[in-house]
Amino acid sequence: MNITRDAYQSAEITYRIFNHFWGHGYAREAIGACLRLAFTKLKLNRIEAYVEPVNTASLRAAEASGFKKEGLARKKLFTRKAWRNVLVYAAICTDHGFKLNPPEL
Ligand SMILES: CC(C)(COP(=O)(O)OP(=O)(O)OC[C@H]1O[C@@H](n2cnc3c(N)ncnc32)[C@H](O)[C@@H]1OP(=O)(O)O)[C@@H](O)C(=O)NCCC(=O)NCCS
Repeated sequence: MNITRDAYQSAEITYRIFNHFWGHGYAREAIGACLRLAFTKLKLNRIEAYVEPVNTASLRAAEASGFKKEGLARKKLFTRKAWRNVLVYAAICTDHGFKLNPPEL
């Protein structure tokens, strides 16, 4: 997770499971554990995930973990020799039963 403090109290999450273990629910389990850590010990309010629209597995993993689609960020990611648009997904602490934390300014 890439954390931004001050007035944001948010983080970006990325995830990858070794391909021999795809489809067993491990991404969902790991993302859930990260969200619990983020919203409790780390006192973060918002976790973002940027997902390429073609990455069905990642879209499903984000949605199955309670992330909501917010929009499209244009030319956000450089991969496979080109700048790519990505869908912006976010999980907010209140959606997962946790209180909003005030900023630690
Ligand atoms: C994306 C990734 C982490 C998913 O890992 P995983 O352990 O196979 O995912 P899970 O088994 O936890 O599945 C989570 C959800 O996605 C769905 N899913 C997983 N792979 C899928 C696929 N290829 N197509 C469609 N749905 C898929 C599962 O059915 C599950 O949904 P459900 O709970 O509604 O049934 C894995 O495919 C990966 O490492 N990909 C390469 C790296 C990558 O693209 N990372 C994301 C960068 S944004």
